[in-house]
Amino acid sequence: MQFSDFSSRYRQNSGTVQLMEDLGRATSTRGPIHQLGGGNPAHIPEVEALLRESMGEITGDPEVFGRMVGEYDAPEGNLGFRQALTDMLREQFAWPVTPDNIAITNGSQSSFGLLFNSFAGRFPDGSHRKILLPLTPEYVGYFDVGLAEQPIFEGRRAEIDLLPDRQFKYRVNFDGLELGPEHGAVCVSRPTNPTGNVITDAEMAQLRAACKRADIPLIVDGAYGLPFPGMIFTEATPFWDTNTILLLSLSKLGLPGIRTGIVVADPEVIRLVRNHNAINSLAPSRLGPTLVTPLLQKGQLQSVCDELVRPFYRRKLDHALDVIEHTMADLPVRVHKPEGALFLWLWFEGLPVTTTELYRELMDQGVFVLPSRPFFPDPAADWRHQDECIRVNYAGPEAMVSEGIALIAEAVRSKF
Ligand SMILES: Cc1ncc(COP(=O)(O)O)c(C=O)c1O
Repeated sequence: MQFSDFSSRYRQNSGTVQLMEDLGRATSTRGPIHQLGGGNPAHIPEVEALLRESMGEITGDPEVFGRMVGEYDAPEGNLGFRQALTDMLREQFAWPVTPDNIAITNGSQSSFGLLFNSFAGRFPDGSHRKILLPLTPEYVGYFDVGLAEQPIFEGRRAEIDLLPDRQFKYRVNFDGLELGPEHGAVCVSRPTNPTGNVITDAEMAQLRAACKRADIPLIVDGAYGLPFPGMIFTEATPFWDTNTILLLSLSKLGLPGIRTGIVVADPEVIRLVRNHNAINSLAPSRLGPTLVTPLLQKGQLQSVCDELVRPFYRRKLDHALDVIEHTMADLPVRVHKPEGALFLWLWFEGLPVTTTELYRELMDQGVFVLPSRPFFPDPAADWRHQDECIRVNYAGPEAMVSEGIALIAEAVRSKF
């Protein structure tokens, strides 16, 4: 079969495909599996009970059910949901939004291609612009969406602050961080996948001001952040203005299966998303919005985040940290300060093998984690750190997480 140039991006190795394949592989591998890879959120029984109840009300109402499954929605997404979210954002944060600032997508992953290729690549004046990632490591799911021949991301190396208790924290290096005509937008995930870092309010304020000065948008991926699912264990103030493109998702609340992403942005950007939806999928799914709108309207979503989701992940996090302390006491390990999301980012300084090799070895033992290298879009030849970290998803059952971490400790110990 002969394929066009366009198809090459779907026929070569990609970090995102690898990640999702590993998830699938883990479910089909024989023997005990320790799934600490992927980004799947946990099944939180109380949250699922609420969602089942909401779904019961929908299926019990022929009109609501009929509309949900039997009618295309508007290409910009369900108006009831967009109105309910508008009310929440205005009430909770006093953001000046209207439904015209909100569009629904089939998962936030599905809008990255549109947004990044709209602000990077070739411009009418002949210039080529990039998306600046001011703090890498950054979410691997961004990197494969570029349509331009040249790379569309420029990743800046994080500064490392060493902290007590064998922790560390990444910091944006603002030295020489000048936004110029070669930049089309700046993007951060906050909390950050893979590290659990929450970029501080002061760093965000500086990035926001720099974007304003350069007249380019700041894209903030809040898939784990505020207002939902609220997987943040530190002080962090969310913000939005018309120069901000905020990406939200229902996935990490416990709904990755129904694929609902949300874009909060200037109407000009929302129109792009609307047209992208119409052209590529006619309309986004009605399922997520229909399920969650009543929770938004009743103000229940906030208590789900505050009383169920955040405490659940806090317990999981404390457990994983405890296991690390007990199983890795003798190893040169540092943990990135866990401030949000559902990952621990472990740094084995001086590890004699790369964590890509470690990852393969662990996978053969049925332990799935992610190595650090794919999270750096611009690997620097002289920065060993890029090959010394792994990402551990701690959302799974505690026994599995404990055993998995113990196996990681054993494998790492054998290298020193
Ligand atoms: C930082 C980040 N952004 C976006 C996504 C994509 O989420 P969605 O399920 O809404 O496509 C993920 C998924 O893991 C993520 O980790």
